[in-house]
Amino acid sequence: MSIPIIFDTDPGVDDAQAIAIIMADPDIEVVGLTTTFGNVHVETATRNALLLTELAGQTIPVAQGAAAPLVKKPFPVPDWIHGADGLGNQQLPSVTGHAVDTTAAEFIIEETRKRPGEITLVAVGPLGNLATALQLDPSVKDRVKRVVVMGGSIAKGGNVTPVAEANIFSDPHAAARVLTAGWSLTMVGLDVTLNTVIEPERMQRIAAKQGELGPVLQRSYDFYAEFYRNAIQLDGCCPHDSVAVTWLRHPELFTTQRGYLSVVTEGPAEGQTIFAAEDRETPDQRWQQGGLVDVCVDVDGRAAVDWMESVLVR
Ligand code: RIB
Ligand code: CA
Repeated sequence: MSIPIIFDTDPGVDDAQAIAIIMADPDIEVVGLTTTFGNVHVETATRNALLLTELAGQTIPVAQGAAAPLVKKPFPVPDWIHGADGLGNQQLPSVTGHAVDTTAAEFIIEETRKRPGEITLVAVGPLGNLATALQLDPSVKDRVKRVVVMGGSIAKGGNVTPVAEANIFSDPHAAARVLTAGWSLTMVGLDVTLNTVIEPERMQRIAAKQGELGPVLQRSYDFYAEFYRNAIQLDGCCPHDSVAVTWLRHPELFTTQRGYLSVVTEGPAEGQTIFAAEDRETPDQRWQQGGLVDVCVDVDGRAAVDWMESVLVR
């Protein structure tokens, strides 16, 4: 069984962990990486995507994408979380490769035209590339097998504002288009990613088996874990983006609810994702717009990180 994916990413420390997983998993075919601003500026995201694939000895197309939100004024990149270089402010090896000539949105459109119905989009950064693909070619939503989004939060509140999760907050207008486009979509939000923790000892075991990629992952983890220790007194870090990959490979570890999503795009609650369960009657039809989606509401967090480690230390 091979699962072809396009991984839309803003590497970023937890993105890097997830990229290591998708490159290591024999059951995942990485058709390409598409990059976006978010944790870092898009040029840095592209550099990091190329670096991670090169350190893993893999040749994977990287297509550069969104440099800014569709509408809102860009926020400063969170260099206190991921480092100015996106990988924990370390001395990074140089990169030899280059991004492909097409933009991220064009890459998504072209690859899904070649393989209609086969490719899953796994989006773990702000959603501008997917929104732009929908804008350029609305039929893309019929050619994509499924969209898996790391983003949003239903019951756990936000990690940027009291209500907004980072990927949605970074580009709420793009998220509103993507989460209500009517394609098959699963949202993997803070409701489940905050229930998964990679502990320091586990990270050391993983990094020791990643060859040249190992030290880069370890140093970036150490920087990210320091943020978590100071911010929420956690001994470890939440591998948000790897949880989205885990849902794709082991949905049985998750509990999901089916319903309608909407995204607040203006005002102090911008970036909030609001969920109306399918079986919830409401007199106001505005809550049933945009097509039914699946939202993850619970996860066996220990089993999730055990799987992540099992793939990486095979
Ligand atoms: O809120 C967590 C998400 O925001 C993750 O994708 C992390 O990489 C950041 O992009
Ligand atoms: Ca990310």
